[in-house]
Amino acid sequence: MQRHLVAPSVLSADFARMAEVLQMLEKSSADWIHWDVMDGCFVPNITFGMDFIRALRPYSGKFFDVHLMIENPAQYIETFARAGANGITIHWEADRHLHRTVSHIKDLGLKAGIAINPATPVNILEDIVSHLDLILIMSVNPGFGGQKFIQQTYKKLNETRQMLERNASKALIQVDGGVSAENAHKLIDEGADVLVAGSFIFNSPDPVKAIELLKNI
Ligand code: DX5
Ligand code: ZN
Repeated sequence: MQRHLVAPSVLSADFARMAEVLQMLEKSSADWIHWDVMDGCFVPNITFGMDFIRALRPYSGKFFDVHLMIENPAQYIETFARAGANGITIHWEADRHLHRTVSHIKDLGLKAGIAINPATPVNILEDIVSHLDLILIMSVNPGFGGQKFIQQTYKKLNETRQMLERNASKALIQVDGGVSAENAHKLIDEGADVLVAGSFIFNSPDPVKAIELLKNI
C-alpha cells in the first residue's frame, strides 16, 4: 500500500510572509502545497487568485495542488495551469460539465480532481471516477480554515474507497478540513491517501514538526 501524502493548506499561513513559508515547507516532509482559491460567490470568503500563485511559484519545487472553490471554474483552468498548478480540483457543485472540464485539465498535462461538499453524496461521482486522478472529500463546509471536522466524513471515505475499487480506479482520496494528529490515523484507515491540514500545521509553534507528525502516522 502506498504511504499517505501530506498537503499543508497555506490558507492558514501568514500571507505577508508566503515566500518564506514556502521556503520553510521546502525543507519539510510536506508532499504537496494546497492552495485554497475562494471567490466570494461559491463560498462566503475571498482568498487569492492565479497571480498570487504565479508570484510564489519560484519559491517552491513541490507539487502545487490547487483547490478551486469558485463558480465557473472551467473559465480559469488555463490561467491556473500557466500560474504553475500541477493539479487542479474543481467542485462538483460548481460545474455542470465536469467531464469536459476534467478532460481540459488533463489535456494540459495536469492532475484532475473533483471535490464534493459535506452534503453531496459520493455516488454522484460514479460515472466520472475513471477519469479522475483525485477525489476531494470536504470534511468541513468550504470557506474557512479552523472549522470543526464533520464525523460523517469517515463513512464517506469508506464509500469512496469502495467506489474506486468497483471501478478499478487509482485516483487518490483527499480529505480536507479539520484534519489533525488526532483524527489522521482513522482517516487513513477509512481510505484517505492525502491529508490536507491548515490550522493544525500553521497554528502550531513548529509547523515542520506538525507536518512530520502527520507524515509519521
Ligand atoms: C476549507 C479549505 C481547507 C482549509 C483547511 O474551505 O478547503 O483547505 O484550509 O483548513 P483546516 O485544516 O484549518 O480545517
Ligand atoms: Zn482546500
